Amino acid sequence: MANKYVTVTAPVNIATLKYWGKRDRFLNLPTNSSISVTLSQDDLKTTTSVCYSKNFESDALYLNGNEESLSSPRQQSCLKLLRKCRIEKEEQDPSLDKIASLPLHIVSVNNFPTAAGLASSAAGYAAMVYSIAKLYQLDLDRSELSKIARQGSGSACRSLYGGFVAWEMGSLDNGSDSKAVQIAPRAHWPGIRAAILVVSAAKKEVPSTGGMQLTVKTSDLFDYRVKQVVPARYEEMKKAILAKDFGVFAELTMKDSNSFHAVCLDSYPPIFYMNDTSKRIVKVITTINEAYGRNVAAYTFDAGPNAVIYYEEKDEDIVLGTLHEFFGSVPGWAKKSGKSFSVPRKFP
Ligand code: DP6
Repeated sequence: MANKYVTVTAPVNIATLKYWGKRDRFLNLPTNSSISVTLSQDDLKTTTSVCYSKNFESDALYLNGNEESLSSPRQQSCLKLLRKCRIEKEEQDPSLDKIASLPLHIVSVNNFPTAAGLASSAAGYAAMVYSIAKLYQLDLDRSELSKIARQGSGSACRSLYGGFVAWEMGSLDNGSDSKAVQIAPRAHWPGIRAAILVVSAAKKEVPSTGGMQLTVKTSDLFDYRVKQVVPARYEEMKKAILAKDFGVFAELTMKDSNSFHAVCLDSYPPIFYMNDTSKRIVKVITTINEAYGRNVAAYTFDAGPNAVIYYEEKDEDIVLGTLHEFFGSVPGWAKKSGKSFSVPRKFP
């Protein structure tokens, strides 16, 4: 039996309607549905190669050149689920090579800072699950694979698709209806751009999992957010995406970022992800929007101080020009690639 490997890439996705809260932490089932935009393959992404061999002693993971543990329950549940699918395939077709029991080596590289609130776990788990599914030649569609990736990291389920993606929270206790679906491919609204402002590349102080558990347990606002705010916003945002209505999409995106950081602040003890530079970015975007009398750009912040700014291509000069004016004197680098423009910058 020849050794075989496959290589895939999975881009980062940035939520415009945030997932924050689990109703089942073992199956990674969320307390609300969420929506994200998957960045283009030219931007932030994880590249993963996976290989099986009877000569390997055990499964192993190499991340950015260093061997990492592969023993976390989340990693193990993804591997177990994928192996189970391969075993079923081998049982159905005895002519197939028996590879499900062979050790795997997984080699992953991120082209951006890991665990800095730039959705590295999303791209990482999506790439790991997709690469092993390809290696095992599993006949599972992306929504099915998203249920496996979800068990690695919730937001990872959305990176199985490009374009505009929803994670439907589902209602079943076994999680079989908690999956990602594509709202629209990237080609539906090709003019959308994302600029990533890297305020800090340091590892986040409060990891998402612990942070959201604290919020669920202690925030009084949280119940209001998941029951009253997010369900309506989820429908409105899907509509805005389908209608390519940037003004509404931008407003909902900014409001949801605010709402997510509000429940973080309402947690006890409070969680602060945004810093003073993040707040300056909010001010600058708000000022641009007020100056033009319409939503030219939308900010959103995840579990860290870094900003993602969504805007339309036609407004690129306004948005990047203004950001450059305010923050451009700070050393950094800019990269123009294909269809989207990233401006990761380090701020003092
Ligand atoms: C703020 O997916 O990293 O980025 O499921 O515990 O791994 P786990 O959490 P994770 O949380 C992401 C939180 C967020 C919002 C989002 O991406 O929807």
